[in-house]
Amino acid sequence: MAEVIDGKSVAEDVVRIVKTLTAELAANGIAKPGLAVVIVGEDPASQVYVASKSRTAKECGFHSVQHTLPAETSEQDLLKIIGGLNADPAINGILVQLPLPAHIDAGKVIQTIAPEKDVDGFHFINVGKLGTGELETAFVPCTPAGSMLLIERVRGKDLSGLNAVVVGRSNIVGKPMANLLLAANCTVTIAHSRTKDLPALARTADILVAAVGRPEMVKGDWVKPGATVIDVGINRIPAPEKGEGKSRLVGDVAYAEAAKVAGAITPVPGGVGPMTIAMLMANTLASAYLAAG
Ligand code: GUN
Repeated sequence: MAEVIDGKSVAEDVVRIVKTLTAELAANGIAKPGLAVVIVGEDPASQVYVASKSRTAKECGFHSVQHTLPAETSEQDLLKIIGGLNADPAINGILVQLPLPAHIDAGKVIQTIAPEKDVDGFHFINVGKLGTGELETAFVPCTPAGSMLLIERVRGKDLSGLNAVVVGRSNIVGKPMANLLLAANCTVTIAHSRTKDLPALARTADILVAAVGRPEMVKGDWVKPGATVIDVGINRIPAPEKGEGKSRLVGDVAYAEAAKVAGAITPVPGGVGPMTIAMLMANTLASAYLAAG
């Protein structure tokens, strides 16, 4: 059976370190890191994520600000709020929760965030830095950054020459994940909905990352024996209409099957999920350090 990668515990370690370093900043008379989280509309999953981000920021000792805006907020008003946060020296990180309502151009909103406060790593400047291997000064998107930390926990820092397959090509996870693995000298393939014979390709992977948003799509026989399997998916399966049972969360990997074959695997929940928030805190702290010179 595979080693279960305890993302919750690693995330707690990261948050503990961020908390300690934040306290040291204060002891040196440097202002506490400031994180602003902006949510537009009432998407229930987004509300849960945003509440958790604001709560963890407070737990870290950050200055934490949340802007909760109605769904009908205009793009212009949202851009104005971001402009204000860009100019506010007490704010080091700005996160606009996605998805945004359809009448708002999410791309425009993201590109309005000052790159040095873009703790999500979605601005072209940060995407470009990651793509060119400028990892020292790039903000790396939180979910792939957290996934890398989990991979290094089980495989060590030297991933050189390993075959990595990333299933999914989103800007938030798939593409930055592939770039991080490439920067770590893996041989990387990005698979997607048009990929031919995905199971056979997946079986070549020493590191298999599933980030497609399709419940339990990756089957046990897609996994190479001993592979490290990172499941980024968080899918809520509704409760059956009749009889017993509640709704439940599953990943993009058929966990029970895959765990019989993999060397190590992240569970859902408790794998990658908690790492996303922890890395957001790490990015915000790093931004505060950079701002303080
Ligand atoms: N929605 C889903 N994941 C993310 C994320 O990492 N950042 C933001 N801003 N929105 C998201």
